[in-house]
Amino acid sequence: MLPIAQTLSDMTQTTTNASDCLNVFEYEARAKTSLAEMAYDYYSGGSWDEVTLRENCSDFSKLSIMPHMLVDLTQLDMSTELFGSKISMPLIIAPTAFHQLATADGERATARAAHRAGTIMTLSTLANCSIEEVQVAAPGPKWFQLYVYKDREVTKDLVQRAEANGYEALALTVDSPILGRREKDVRNRFCLPNNFRLGHFDTGPLANLPDDVADSGLAAYIGSLYDTSLSWKHVEWLSEITKLPILLKGILRADDAALGVKNGAAGIIVSNHGGRQLDSAPSTISVLSEVVEAVEGRVPVLLDSGIRRGTDIFKAIGLGAKAVLTGRPILWGLATNGEQGAYEVLEMLRAEFQLTMQLAGCPTLKHITPDMVRSKTPFWCK
Ligand SMILES: Cc1cc2nc3c(=O)[nH]c(=O)nc-3n(C[C@H](O)[C@H](O)[C@H](O)COP(=O)(O)O)c2cc1C
Repeated sequence: MLPIAQTLSDMTQTTTNASDCLNVFEYEARAKTSLAEMAYDYYSGGSWDEVTLRENCSDFSKLSIMPHMLVDLTQLDMSTELFGSKISMPLIIAPTAFHQLATADGERATARAAHRAGTIMTLSTLANCSIEEVQVAAPGPKWFQLYVYKDREVTKDLVQRAEANGYEALALTVDSPILGRREKDVRNRFCLPNNFRLGHFDTGPLANLPDDVADSGLAAYIGSLYDTSLSWKHVEWLSEITKLPILLKGILRADDAALGVKNGAAGIIVSNHGGRQLDSAPSTISVLSEVVEAVEGRVPVLLDSGIRRGTDIFKAIGLGAKAVLTGRPILWGLATNGEQGAYEVLEMLRAEFQLTMQLAGCPTLKHITPDMVRSKTPFWCK
């Protein structure tokens, strides 16, 4: 038998390997120790008072799961299909900017992790690696997230390169004609290290964030280059220049979702940008049901913002999402251990979701029905 002192010290040993992390929150704590402060603040922060950022997570805990018992679970299947691609689970990678702040291989590492986990990676317009570099880094389905530049030729070029390189869908971000005020980035005067660039562009102002501003360099970049006139006209224009399905990312209202479908959107992503745009916008889980109702099954509805646990995925699927996207957890994985870390985060969320399905008596995604998700504060669930 071991002496008691040794047993206790074993029990209280702090974890040292990324793979010792038991959940997304532990990955974040680990990532914080390896990231530069400016990068951690940029990744983790939200806009203004971060009310929406907090509620994205806390509102999930206002929902209970109503489990079924005595269900045969021997044939478990969590795979699904989106725009012709079968994926291993209803969890895909949200577009987030500047992965080289987390790992030298940047978005190439993320693409490899997505491929290993059998899911989709969405590549940001603000990536450090180009559309082409990411495409050759790993096979597997990819989507391209689009910000609309004032210069339509710049936008058109991005769309055409995504299409030519086999990206399967466009996620048009509709909540960011200008950037939300992220006070941590303002205080840090957020900018990129000198040797980093925006990977889709070679040189010049499109490829670099200004580093001589008394504000966030990203806010200055977006303020000078993005099209603040972004409107339904642009959705129409986009559908004229591409055959790719267009998802609208950033919808929070039922009427906007219905308008989106009317204007040809092939999918709706209920998102508040992870609480980084309009602070005091609702948490996404709180508005999902009304958007799903308005869309009437005509196109898939997806959700992001606040997914941290397998139970969160379950609740979103129960309230009608076809799949969910996750942003920051992937960055914590990348910062902790590059491609392997991002892969581990995906697999950890898969395992949590699988266990949730099993304990709730759901062998397939179809079994996760709205009656299984009950609101503790009965104002947003039927
Ligand atoms: C660091 C960071 C960068 C982001 N960059 C982009 C981007 O370039 N384009 C975009 O449409 N959304 C971007 N987002 C929003 C994500 O796509 C997604 O909506 C959000 O991260 C979901 O919330 P979560 O982080 O709680 O999962 C970014 C989010 C973060 C945290």
